[in-house]
Amino acid sequence: MPDAYAIARALLFRFDAETAHHLSMAGLRLAEKSGLLPLLFPEPECLAPIEVMGLRFPNRLGLAAGLDKEGNTIDALGRLGFGFIEIGTITPRPQAGNPKPRLFRLIEHEAIINRMGFNNAGIHAGVAAVRSSRTFQGVIGFNIGKNKDTPNENAADDYLICLREAYPVANYIAVNLSSPNTPGLRDLQGEDACARLLEILKKEQQQLAATHGKQVPLLFKVAPDLDPPHIAGLARVFREGGLDGLIATNTTLDRQAVSNHPRAQEAGGLSGKPLEARSNEVIRAFASELGGSIPIIGVGGVGSAEDALRKIDAGATLVQIYSRFIFQGPALVRACARALDGVAP
Ligand SMILES: Cc1cc2nc3c(=O)[nH]c(=O)nc-3n(C[C@H](O)[C@H](O)[C@H](O)COP(=O)(O)O)c2cc1C
Repeated sequence: MPDAYAIARALLFRFDAETAHHLSMAGLRLAEKSGLLPLLFPEPECLAPIEVMGLRFPNRLGLAAGLDKEGNTIDALGRLGFGFIEIGTITPRPQAGNPKPRLFRLIEHEAIINRMGFNNAGIHAGVAAVRSSRTFQGVIGFNIGKNKDTPNENAADDYLICLREAYPVANYIAVNLSSPNTPGLRDLQGEDACARLLEILKKEQQQLAATHGKQVPLLFKVAPDLDPPHIAGLARVFREGGLDGLIATNTTLDRQAVSNHPRAQEAGGLSGKPLEARSNEVIRAFASELGGSIPIIGVGGVGSAEDALRKIDAGATLVQIYSRFIFQGPALVRACARALDGVAP
């Protein structure tokens, strides 16, 4: 429904980006509850499911973390054709995030700069929201983080709290080490810090698997701002530590591609079209270092079927979108999911 979305977008883009976000999410929930979305999208498309990390994904396209931070719009978003939805980032305690404004559209670049700072309702609310989702048949990932006021020395405690709470309802857990908007968070991508954290979380995962009788894969999400030696070092840590999956990438601090834009110097992470090439480079480098031993979810700048396929070409098995979905609407979900359907298993 590109025409309907063009109208909705013209209206929504009259508001500041964060108000537009809340309006569109509320609108989606209303459209789901009132029966309008089920009428427009009665059945999920018949695409080939794929098994990755022991999970059955109805298709290879997912929604990246940050759009449905609380997990309260899963059914409506699922209706649009996503095979998986990653909610969060969710922290142990609710937190307000950074002062507004903190979300900016760079329309000419199909890009977004955000410094939201993990505004979320906390892990209890996230778990409750997932429990009350009804119709979504796909995979639900929990993206977890630490509270802003938790020092990095104690970060593992925050991840453990979220891991334990989310484990019974999550299909996978994504550990966010790469948001640029929580001071010091990216330091957890240092090889030693990362190895320690992975060891602690893997140990807990094994205990939880025994308690709950199910294996919930553990993924780490990394930044695009990593140089080749750092990528090689992290890949070794991930292989040796038994990581189940990698999500690459989060937003970038680099502003080169948008340097002419009046908003270019806003603090935060840049996503969307200008991130695509860099994200693909990082995916390619990790894929080469990992040699297929750990599946990669490729994310960053996907805005067409061709972009989605380029993520697979770079070495990803699954693909996520966020920013350019805001600019293009539901048509992008179907186009990417269909294109990825043609990829050999
Ligand atoms: C407004 C906004 C908020 C985001 N919040 C999160 C978040 O809470 N946790 C996270 O891991 N990634 C977050 N991201 C990053 C996205 O999940 C994704 O990795 C990144 O935007 C690159 O994909 P894209 O170019 O398709 O948007 C956020 C992105 C945006 C634009």
